[in-house]
Amino acid sequence: MKNSLAVLAFGAALTGAGAADAADIVANPKAAPNKIEQCIGCHGIPGYKATFPEVYQVPMIGGQSAKYIEAALNAYKKGDRRHPSMQGIAASLSDQDIADIAAYYSQQTPASPK
Ligand code: HEC
Repeated sequence: MKNSLAVLAFGAALTGAGAADAADIVANPKAAPNKIEQCIGCHGIPGYKATFPEVYQVPMIGGQSAKYIEAALNAYKKGDRRHPSMQGIAASLSDQDIADIAAYYSQQTPASPK
């Protein structure tokens, strides 16, 4: 358990209070399916473009690395990365949700490999 203390200290130093929980989180992709219902509407449709506030291409997230997805969601949550719909969605996710979702999507294969 020495490791989790180090992670805790590191996380707390890096991002302040909210990150303190991160040390206890074990990603569980099996818990993800009912958490990603709201994502599928945008991210599950090839070529779909969000219409608000602008015409945005919605990125495919299946097959991305879990670290990348987690970092992106945390960036939206903190406001470091800005996009109105994603910021609203990320803000509603707990650290556990983000870990589960990231693990789930990283296990998928990219829908249209090129
Ligand atoms: C309303 C449509 C919509 C919904 C619903 C939605 N997203 Fe997104 N998402 C987007 C758009 C548009 C972007 C690209 C925004 C940008 O340019 O930063 C994006 C970006 C992302 C990214 C960054 C991808 C990259 O390549 O950098 C991740 C990760 C992500 N979304 C995860 C999720 C997850 C997980 C959910 C469900 C909890 C979700 N999104 C729900 C529209 C949506």
